[in-house]
Amino acid sequence: MLLGTQCVNDAGHLEIGGCDVVDLARRFGTPLYVVDEAFLRDNLRRYKQAFAERYPAETTVYYAAKAFLITAMVRVIDQEGLSLDVASGGELHTALAAGFPPERIILHGNYKSEGELRAALEAGVGRIVVDNFFELRRLNALAAETGRVQPVLIRVTPGIDPHTHRRIRTGQEDTKFGINISDGSALEAIGEALDFPNLNLLGIHCHIGSQLLDSKSHEDAIEVMVAFLAQIRETTGRALEELNIGGGLGVRYLPEHKPPTYEEFADTVCATLKRFLKQYDLEPPRLSQEPGRALVAETGTTLYTIGPTKRVNITEDPGSRTYVSVDGGMSDNPRPQLYDAVYTAMVANRAGQPRDQVVTVAGKHCETDLMITDIALGDTDIGDILAVQSTGAYNHAMASNYNRFPRSTVVFVRDGEADVVYERETLDDLLRQDRIPARLAARAS
Ligand code: LLP
Repeated sequence: MLLGTQCVNDAGHLEIGGCDVVDLARRFGTPLYVVDEAFLRDNLRRYKQAFAERYPAETTVYYAAKAFLITAMVRVIDQEGLSLDVASGGELHTALAAGFPPERIILHGNYKSEGELRAALEAGVGRIVVDNFFELRRLNALAAETGRVQPVLIRVTPGIDPHTHRRIRTGQEDTKFGINISDGSALEAIGEALDFPNLNLLGIHCHIGSQLLDSKSHEDAIEVMVAFLAQIRETTGRALEELNIGGGLGVRYLPEHKPPTYEEFADTVCATLKRFLKQYDLEPPRLSQEPGRALVAETGTTLYTIGPTKRVNITEDPGSRTYVSVDGGMSDNPRPQLYDAVYTAMVANRAGQPRDQVVTVAGKHCETDLMITDIALGDTDIGDILAVQSTGAYNHAMASNYNRFPRSTVVFVRDGEADVVYERETLDDLLRQDRIPARLAARAS
C-alpha cells in the first residue's frame, strides 16, 4: 500500500514527499511523525471541491482539529480555505494563536466550561454548537453579558447506530452527546433557542461516528435530519438555514480497507440530501461538515527504529511468535490499545523485500503495547526503520507522556524538503510542570 507521494526509490527505501525516510530518521531521530504536505493539501482541496460541485447551495468544510492540531496545521487549513472545528479551549487557543479567522471557527463539546464559552464569545467564533439545555441557557446569558448575538447550531442525536468501534459511535440515542430527536427534546430546545434574544439559531448538527467505511449511516442520518428540519418548519414556521452532518468518513489503514472516495461519498451524500429535501419540500440549507480523519490520517507515517527481536513458543499455530520491538508505542499511538486499531507497516530501508516473515510489532512501554499483531514484514534487523502508515489522525493528537516519554517530532515533507513543525520534547520538558513544595525539599539524611 503506497499512499499519497509515497514511493520506493532506487536505494530500495521508502520515500515520502521526495524525502528518503531513512535520511529523515537519521536527521530527526525516531519516533518521527512524517506528514506528506502535498497529499494533505490535495485532500483538503478535493474534499471541498467534491461537495461544492455537487450541492446546489453553499457548502462549508470544517476540518476537525481533534484529529491533528498544531499551529502549522492551522496555517495549512487557512491557506486551503477550509474552516475549523475546535472542541476545547486548547484547540481554540491554538487556532487563534496561529491567526485563524474566528468567524470560520465552530466550537464543540458536551461540557464547555464557562471560561471556554467566554473565550469563544470574546474571540467572535462563527458558530457554537449547543449540546444541551443547560448550555443553551448559559450561553444566552453569557452572550447577553458580552453584548453579542451568537450564531448557534443545536447538536441532535438522530438515533442512528453506525457500524464502527463502540468507542467511536455517537449517533445512537444512548450517548452523552447532543439532544434526542425521538423523544421531542430536540424540538423543545429549538423552540427555546429561537426565543433567546442573544442566540441566532442557524441550524442543526449531528455527528454519528468515526471510521465509517461506507456511506450508509450518513444516508440514514440525513433522512432523519431532513425530516427533523421539516418538523421544525411545521411547528415553528422557521426554515433553518444550515445543516451540519459532522465527520466520520473512514480511511485505509490496511490495503483491504475500501472507504468511498471523497467524490463517491459526495455523490451519495448530495443525492440523498436532494432526494429528501425534495420529498419534504424544503429549500437546500447550507451544508456543513467536519471531517477529521478522512483528511489527515493517510497523510501521516510514523518512523520507528527497530530494536531487540524475541521469539517465543506459543501453543497455537504456528508454534512460535516473533516480537519485534520499536522505540515508541502507546505514548505516540494509543489507538491499538483503545480501539483495537489495525495498521500496516513496512521496513522502510528494504521496502522492496518479500514479506515472507510474520512478526508482531511491540512498543517499548511497560505494558503489552502491541502495535501490530501478526504482520507479514519480511526480514528485520536491529537498527532497521519501520514505517507505520496512516498515522496522521489521532496519533500525535492523542500522544501522552506515559512512562515519561517525550512527545515526538513532527515534520512536514514536500518536494524533497523537510520542515519541523513540532519539536521533540526534551527530558527537561518532562520536568517543566513539576514542583517540589518546601516541605518535600529536604533530602533524606
Ligand atoms: N465532528 C464531531 C462533533 C466529532 O465528535 C468528531 C469526532 C468529528 C467531527 C471528526 O470525526 P472524523 O471525521 O475524524 O471521524 N480518537 C478516535 C476518534 C474519535 C472521534 C471523535 N469525534 C480514534 O482515534 O479513532
